[in-house]
Amino acid sequence: PTGRTPMALYAALGAAALDWSRVRTFNLDEFATLGPEHPGSFRAFMDDHLFRHVNLAPAAIGFLRGDAADSAAECARYDVAIAAAGGIDLLLVGLGGNGHIGFNEPGDSLHAETHVVPLHESTRRANAERFGGDWRAVPASALTMGMRQVLSARRVVMMATGASKADAVAAMLDGPLTTRCPASWLQAHPDVTFVIDRAAASARRAG
Ligand code: GLP
Repeated sequence: PTGRTPMALYAALGAAALDWSRVRTFNLDEFATLGPEHPGSFRAFMDDHLFRHVNLAPAAIGFLRGDAADSAAECARYDVAIAAAGGIDLLLVGLGGNGHIGFNEPGDSLHAETHVVPLHESTRRANAERFGGDWRAVPASALTMGMRQVLSARRVVMMATGASKADAVAAMLDGPLTTRCPASWLQAHPDVTFVIDRAAASARRAG
């Protein structure tokens, strides 16, 4: 995942003497229209915060191309590439303040496969930092892994920090499985580790 949440983890991974030569990665999502060289792209974020600090081969980095001419074909290509790699062993995910996971936004329905999704205004606002602080400069849609990719990963580590995630954490852990909180579907996954700080856990019923 991109975002503020995994930055400390990526810094620690970059500083550790780990061998990534046999690792393959697939990022969760990317903004529509943006190429990898755009400074606001998730690819640029990952290059800055992780990829250039580890010995991961460029060919081993799986990423959605936001600037693909045919977004639907690009999403289909991604699902085939993940399957060809043998699926995802370990999926790291963050949590949107509105309960989104990857860019699977809350709504009346969710999608199983990698797909193009319109972004909620709150999500564009939350991502404005890398676009000069102007949320209208944040692309209005994105390409994202779907719920099947998330739920079929063999192990999932979900990270959420800070008070802005408190309501979403409570809905994710204590609420019903609902398309209104895509992260709530992690309750149905057999092997999830939730890494949540006190501020993010503060709205839980159990306290
Ligand atoms: C973004 C990304 C998610 C990320 C989430 C939380 O919009 N699409 O993958 O997990 O929102 O971001 P942050 O960690 O900055 O709060």
